[in-house]
Amino acid sequence: MKKQNLVVAGGGSTYTIGMIMSLIAEKENFPLKSITFYDTNEDRQQKVAEATRVILREKYPELESFSYTTDKEKAFTDADFVFVQIRTGGLAMREQDEQIPLQHGVVGQETCGPGGMAYGMRSIGDMIELVKDVRHYAPEAWILNYTNPAAIVAEALRREFNNDNKILNICDMPAAIMVSYAGILGKEVFDLVPEYFGLNHFGWFTKIYDKEGNDHTDTIKNAITKDGFMPEDAEIANDPNWIKTFKQVERMLNDFPEYLPNTYLQYYLYPQEMVDKEEAGNTRARQVINGRQKRVHELCDQIIADQSLENVELEVDIHGRYMIRVAASLAYHNCDTFIVMVENNGIISNLPDDAMVEVPAMLTKQGPKPFSVGPISTFYKGLIEGQLAYEKLVVDAFYENSYEKAMQALTLNRTVVDAPVARQILDDLIEANRDYWPALVARKEREF
Ligand code: G6P
Ligand code: MN
Repeated sequence: MKKQNLVVAGGGSTYTIGMIMSLIAEKENFPLKSITFYDTNEDRQQKVAEATRVILREKYPELESFSYTTDKEKAFTDADFVFVQIRTGGLAMREQDEQIPLQHGVVGQETCGPGGMAYGMRSIGDMIELVKDVRHYAPEAWILNYTNPAAIVAEALRREFNNDNKILNICDMPAAIMVSYAGILGKEVFDLVPEYFGLNHFGWFTKIYDKEGNDHTDTIKNAITKDGFMPEDAEIANDPNWIKTFKQVERMLNDFPEYLPNTYLQYYLYPQEMVDKEEAGNTRARQVINGRQKRVHELCDQIIADQSLENVELEVDIHGRYMIRVAASLAYHNCDTFIVMVENNGIISNLPDDAMVEVPAMLTKQGPKPFSVGPISTFYKGLIEGQLAYEKLVVDAFYENSYEKAMQALTLNRTVVDAPVARQILDDLIEANRDYWPALVARKEREF
């Protein structure tokens, strides 16, 4: 097996240590020659990287090199794979994305509703620049992107790099949900084969099979209706917020029993309740700052001080394992099936060809070979079309500097609906994102 040169772009992320542990756990499936971290924030990356150095020394001695840099040329030259996990504006701006809509009685969430739009308009420019940089130094590298809001980022990358078939947008949520299905069935997550359709953070499992072709869908649905649903992956199992979110699956299944929902549908199906439950001073960003980020930074400090792993406990998570199995299937032509984002082109036959849909695909050396879904029925089609229009309008607003398109996007979003509310939120978001968004121009300031 050829050993890979891997770059992690966004090396300072709170997910990086979990990714490193996953790379160690998966070294036989995805053997590495080198790991390079790249980040624009030198200090943040240094802490994670110096801890990583110790981890790799103990657990991956056969790795030929590990380094970290803020220099694009050093980072991307000779890369085989680039995993992209950047967050423009950091967790501080995530908090704004969550708080501003809430102030207007609307869902405040990093990828859903106005928060998703705000984050999308911040991410698109940096993502395009990053992909151009990677391509400049590593024309053949696989780019696995899980930067959020993935649906909007994927749509922008589709428009910008339409002929580049080595960019793959992925999200770990379906896999994290499948870890819980595997728990119900007493099986391993990678032994399950899903049928799924939708958009990112906006989809449904229609079937769950095992690799022998046995259908476990009804067993899973019955278990959820009887016993509820819990997160089981190490990273989220003990997190009260994720426990609450997974519990909602039971409720969604009671209201809409046909398919197994992605957890993110809670924001679109129960928007008012999601608002009522929130405290503006303690939204998810704050919880992550005080929770995961603090934990990861303390863990890194401990490892660096000890120069060993004797006083820490490190865990593998599905986020990392999923990305790595996807990469392995692309690198070694494993032809495994994973849920990924691809351009529709008839996969869901009654949705537009140019939609970025999230569906299962066989992952080969030549890229994803998605399986046909066929037509979807009215309820799902209606929901998806509204959300898709919102996503496209956000990307239009970015490219056209259009206030009007941003207004249309927000008004179409199920979490907003009311045009005057959309306008108030938009104006507040413009103010908060001055340093990041392109300047939006309203029609009255344009020439008719
Ligand atoms: C899931 C989603 C990601 C999202 C993450 C947020 O993994 O698939 O897209 O970034 O949840 O988790 P957090 O714990 O930061 O709220
Ligand atoms: Mn996701």
